Amino acid sequence: MTQDEMKKAVAIKALDFIENDTIVGVGTGSTVNHFIDALATIKNKITGAVSSSEESTKRLKEHGIEVFDLNSIDTLDVYIDGADEITKHMSMIKGGGAALTREKIVAAVSKRFICIADDSKQVEVLGTFPLPVEVIPMARSYVARELVKLGGDPVYRQGVITDNGNVILDVHNMSIIDPKGLENSINSIVGVVTNGLFAQRGADILVLGSAQGVEVIS
Ligand code: A5P
Repeated sequence: MTQDEMKKAVAIKALDFIENDTIVGVGTGSTVNHFIDALATIKNKITGAVSSSEESTKRLKEHGIEVFDLNSIDTLDVYIDGADEITKHMSMIKGGGAALTREKIVAAVSKRFICIADDSKQVEVLGTFPLPVEVIPMARSYVARELVKLGGDPVYRQGVITDNGNVILDVHNMSIIDPKGLENSINSIVGVVTNGLFAQRGADILVLGSAQGVEVIS
């Protein structure tokens, strides 16, 4: 299987977690794009979706899937999303697509986080993938200096404005031994909206694609 075929396979497998007549939390990225396409095949069985980005909202609507405002919903049964890195403890780095803040919000409202990923995303220790941090634009330089104090090497993601009107700093060269602690520390810096560590609220289930096929890990 190619990497894209693995992404498609895990996306289709994720349909097993969708109950009839529910609203589905939908993440962002190339793996999720396959999931949205798969979701369209059962769109008459679901009520609709809550989306984590303008990009996913557009794709959902193109398929005729109703997109609900999160403020009109108390809880979601499941949130389906990809990851840039995931450990065996189900901690993740996310935000390669700059949608980390809305992803974290939708994940917080969801009872179960189902991560869909190919096996290139599995790591022993997080941090080879640069950690995205969403920052209020006027705080960019200050936050970058604070991230250096935490041992990182922040790089401004040029030309990218998030769906929330903010900027992204990608933090290189961090070996993240304590993901929960670092998630809190970075979020405590004034001007940070949130960071791409999903450790306080990690995944509950990993649907993993490899050359051998699809495995469900919980
Ligand atoms: C989007 O901001 C990210 O969190 C994605 O979930 C992550 O980058 C995975 O994307 P791919 O499925 O494209 O690898």
